[in-house]
This record gives sequence, C-alpha cells and structure tokens, in this order.
Amino acid sequence: MKILMASSEAVPYAKTGGLADMVSALSLSLAKLGHEVRIVIPRYYSVSRDKLEFLEGALGVPMGGQEEWSGVYTDILPGSPAKNPVRVYFIDHEIYFGRDGIYGTPAEPDFLDNPRRFAFFSRAVFQLCRKISWKPDIFHAHDWPAALVPVYHKYIERPGDFAGSASVITIHNLGYQGIYSRDNFSYLGLNWDVFYNAGFEDWSMMNLLKAGLYSADKINTVSPTYAEETKTQVQGFRLDGVLRYRSGDYRGILNGIDTDVWNPEKDTQIPAVYGIKNMAGKAKAKAELQKIYNLPQTPDVPLIGIVTRLTDQKGVGELFGPGYGSAWSICRDMNIQMVLLGSGEAWCEYELQSLSSRLSNFKARIGYSESLSHLIEAGSDFFLMPSRYEPCGLNQMYSLAYGTLPIVRSTGGLADTVENFNEDTGKGTGFMFDQLNPSSIYNTVGWAVWAYYNRRPQIEEMRLEGMKKDFSWEKSARKYTELYGECLGKKAQASKAQA
Ligand code: ADP
Ligand code: GLC
Repeated sequence: MKILMASSEAVPYAKTGGLADMVSALSLSLAKLGHEVRIVIPRYYSVSRDKLEFLEGALGVPMGGQEEWSGVYTDILPGSPAKNPVRVYFIDHEIYFGRDGIYGTPAEPDFLDNPRRFAFFSRAVFQLCRKISWKPDIFHAHDWPAALVPVYHKYIERPGDFAGSASVITIHNLGYQGIYSRDNFSYLGLNWDVFYNAGFEDWSMMNLLKAGLYSADKINTVSPTYAEETKTQVQGFRLDGVLRYRSGDYRGILNGIDTDVWNPEKDTQIPAVYGIKNMAGKAKAKAELQKIYNLPQTPDVPLIGIVTRLTDQKGVGELFGPGYGSAWSICRDMNIQMVLLGSGEAWCEYELQSLSSRLSNFKARIGYSESLSHLIEAGSDFFLMPSRYEPCGLNQMYSLAYGTLPIVRSTGGLADTVENFNEDTGKGTGFMFDQLNPSSIYNTVGWAVWAYYNRRPQIEEMRLEGMKKDFSWEKSARKYTELYGECLGKKAQASKAQA
C-alpha cells in the first residue's frame, strides 16, 4: 500500500512528545513490511534547510479564495530500510513556520494563527501529492494539527483527484483538539454548510479534531483501553458522543517502541549494556545515575525515576502540588531516592527546584535530555507515572524493557502494558492503583518499596518478566495495515453502492 503520514511532529526533526516517536517508528515498521510510506511535516525554523534537499518549484496552495505559496524540502528518514526508504517532505512557509516553537512558545503557548498554520499545512499535503504525481491509498492524519486532512479529503479531494484514496485519523491525545474562533473558518476554503455537516461546530467555536473525527473513514487511538475510556463522559473530553457515534469505525491499536533505540542490550547511552542473562550493567547504570544527580551511591536503596512533561495529564499536581502533593511525604517517610527529568508548567518547575533544595533524597533536572532519559530508564529500580489519563505512554514500556518496574495509575495504555504485582504468586510487572490522588500514589509507592526490601527475589523475577515482553512495532504495524485494508474495502463498497 501507499501510505501518507501527515503529522506536526516526527523524530528526529521535531518532537514535543510521544507523537513524534510514534509517527516515525510506525512509518519505518510499515516500510519494513514492504509498504511505500511518505511523511509530510512542516519545515519548522529549528529544522535546518542545509541538511535537506530542495524540491524544484513552488507549491501553490488554495486558501480561502486566494493562493499561497510554499517551498518543499525532502529527506530520507534515518533508519529507513535501504531498499524501501521512507521519504519525508517538509512544507516550508516562512510566515507560518519560520519561527521558534511548534505550537507556541512559553510566552504564547498556542499561536493565534494556529488554525491557519495547520489548515495551510493540511491543504498543502494534497498539493504536494499532485506535484510529485503520487496518489496514496491512505491519508493517515495524526492529532488535531492534521485533522483537516480527512476533511479536505472527504469534501474536496475525494470527489476530485483522490477518489481512490481513503483516510484514517489517529488520536494521540484527546486533551488537545484545536478549538478556535469560527472567524478562522473562511480561511479554510470550505463552504459554510461543511462547517455544520463536517461537525466543526462546537458551542459556536470551531473544533478541528471533531471535524476530522466525523470525516475520516476510520479512527483509532493508541491503546485499546483508551479507546474505551474516550467513549465515556469522564475521559471523552466532550467528544465521547462523537466517538460513540463512530464506534463501528473506531478502535485502539497499542503503540510499539523502537527496539533499536530502546534496548539495554545495545544502548550506547548507558555505561554498560545488559540483558536478562547478565544484569550487572543495570547496577552500573544506577551508580552512574546517582553520581550525576549527586546522590549517595548506595546500591541497596530503591531509586525511583521520573521522565515527563510537567503537565496536569501526567498527575504532577497530585505528586508535586505545593502543600498537598505526595512526593514530599514519600521522600520524607521512605528510605528511597527519587530523580526526575522534565520540563513544562512554570509552577511545577519552580516547585521541583524547591523540593530538590529541601529534600536530601530528591533531585530534579529541568530540561530535555535524550541521553539522561536513557540513563534514568536503565539506572532506576522503579519508574513512576501516575497519569490522569494516558493514551498509550512510551516510558512505561521503555521501563519494562530495561528491567525497571513501573508504578502507574491503571489507565489507558498503562493498563494495557503493565500487570499488577500479586503478592501471593509473585507474578506481575509493576505496581498499580486506580484513583488518582496523593494518598493512592503514596500507598502504591510504599507498597513497591516494601516489596523491594521484603520480597527481593520476587522483584528480581518481575524485572525479568518485564524484559521478556515484546513491544516491538511489527505487531502493531500489521494491525494498522488491517485498518487500512478495511478502509479501502469500505470505500470500494461505497462506490459499488453508488454505481
Ligand atoms: P507524552 O507524549 O504524553 O509526553 P509518552 O510517554 O508517549 O508521553 O512519550 C514521551 C516521550 O518524550 C518519551 O520518549 C520520553 O522519554 C520523552 N520525554 C519527555 N520528557 C522528556 C525530557 N524532559 N527529556 C527527555 N525525554 C523526554
Ligand atoms: C500522546 C500521548 C501518549 C502517547 C503518545 C504517542 O502524546 O499523551 O500517551 O504515547 O501520544 O502515541
């Protein structure tokens, strides 16, 4: 199949979270299965043009009654199979993308012209296909920034040049929907009846993701449990009704992890590689991690690691909220060490600095570091992830692969990948709780720490169980090809019915 991925992020070019990992890893995996995959992303200011190849000629994109122009750059996605490389195209538009930030900056977290930026990007996807004379079988859009791709396909392109294609949209995070003033709608170049028919209407605002969910042939999210949760009022972020309405075309497909990059047996970013048969490297990683964080290098004190965006989704309020978060009492009451790497909301960054100065066994680094995140996964005994909601989550899978036991809230992808410790049988791969509040976190960390000191053989057995799990992408990529196949089947049926 010919598959076009439309996304606002893809590693190694632009990343704010797991979306970027997923888009590139899925693309590579599909290419390895023999499919022809091309990715389209914006050419942000941070992606240097020097390393890219320029595609001759400009791309004209019709927007709201006028044509706007962009350039196109291209590259081969690193890690591509030599015989079937994944090509990446970059939409280059100085006014929209020649600035710092993907969606915004700390001073302006959501750029005012985001609906225009990503409408332009989405429409450019089709113009690019015309330019390179390539007709994908599947337009696969990711999250709200690309949600207009299925809309343009359904209302403009399917009746035209792309009648043979179908569209899929993947929800990576329902917490972000792209909701803007409807004043922006005229710029999208769609008739006003589409505003209502495609479901843009949202309490007199314009909701891009909602329109994408109504328009795509198939919808998926990144874990089976999250697919169920999003159909409920509690986790549906007001789109549960749409997802229930479309439930026949909606499912969850668990993400995989890139096992070339996240693999303790070949990781170049940790002091010594290790595996099920020889765990000595894990102890070395722990010592190195303690050294880097200026903690005593005690091998037998449990070390709890955290790598996260500091945002409400990740349960940072319940963990670090001044005066009520549980991290303070966990570190005060328990004989443990805790290290964190993260960046995000200002209050939380401030609080972490403050906790680091007041607690001798808690240390935080504010920032983003790929190599330190590898060391934390390898060197920690436990990985804490008390997410309010988690569409999939990658870090708990990295943890399992590195023999680090996840302590997680049982939600979304966390519920699908971690098995709770059973004290009677010793089975399990982590420690789980249901309700998100400071005392559940406190109690569950306490339980894990108790097991570390009192059930050490079981802990070691659980580590090995986790390391044996197969989270490679191939299985998931095959599920995507089934989804694509169903889309094309559905389309063929529809055109038969029309005839
Ligand atoms: P989300 O996309 O919601 O943030 P995921 O668990 O799916 O959650 O993916 C997060 C990704 O971002 C992981 O690859 C994780 O290691 C990485 N990450 C998050 N914060 C940092 C950081 N401060 N430094 C390095 N990597 C980070
Ligand atoms: C989002 C979700 C995360 C998921 C990632 C990749 O960022 O928050 O749970 O793993 O997308 O699909």
